[in-house]
Amino acid sequence: MIELEAVSLRRGEALVLDRLDLALPERRIGVIGANGSGKSSFARLLNGLLLPSEGHVRVAGLDTSADGKAVRRRIGFVFQNPDNQIVYPTVGEDVAFGLKARKVPKAEIAARVAAILDRHGLGGFEDRLVHELSGGERQMVALAGVLVTEPDLLVLDEPTTLLDLRNTRRIIQAVEAADRAVVLVTHDLDLLAGFERVLCFDGGRVVADGSPPEVIAHYRALAS
Ligand SMILES: Nc1ncnc2c1ncn2[C@@H]1O[C@H](COP(=O)(O)OP(=O)(O)OP(=O)(O)O)[C@@H](O)[C@H]1O
Ligand SMILES: [Mg+2]
Repeated sequence: MIELEAVSLRRGEALVLDRLDLALPERRIGVIGANGSGKSSFARLLNGLLLPSEGHVRVAGLDTSADGKAVRRRIGFVFQNPDNQIVYPTVGEDVAFGLKARKVPKAEIAARVAAILDRHGLGGFEDRLVHELSGGERQMVALAGVLVTEPDLLVLDEPTTLLDLRNTRRIIQAVEAADRAVVLVTHDLDLLAGFERVLCFDGGRVVADGSPPEVIAHYRALAS
């Protein structure tokens, strides 16, 4: 459950998000809208990467301003560009990182890393160098590294921009299969077909909120 209460976000002089009030109990939430409308800012509020200038953001009962560390442990975030989140030279070390930070026993880490890589088309990739992978493979590594920690909520900010059709489908299947709440920011409207709720941002406000067909129609009308 995600709750925003009178949330505004200022960055420098700019009012990037303008008094958002939202209760989001759904498990599949899409976010669309024009470039610069505030989608990434909204996504970053959800795991405490950004804190509201006014108001409160609560996720799974935790206030992101008060419980930042706990929030970051429980909310997984996948960036548009995997290079922003991959830190270790090999795939195995990188995917293991979140589990090490959570003090999971070594033998269990190895087994969980192997299983998650297998499930995402990267079986046996443990010793491969991340910088030698393709962009799509790196994105799958980034996703695997987040999913392996079993977050309560998975937030993805345009995760398929760099991907071909097959890897886009893989990401979406991984999202569909994930037994956890998902917030997906995307310009690829086809990805939202099965979603329960879609928000359309414009100028830092939510200007449409409802089922995918309704909200996508609103967005198309805005752009025409
Ligand atoms: N540090 C900052 N200082 C000032 N303005 C900022 C800062 N960071 C972001 N902004 C502005 O906030 C607005 C919203 O940015 P945001 O990245 O949330 O948009 P977005 O909807 O994700 O866009 P895109 O579709 O291009 O990814 C933009 O106008 C951006 O220029
Ligand atoms: Mg963005």
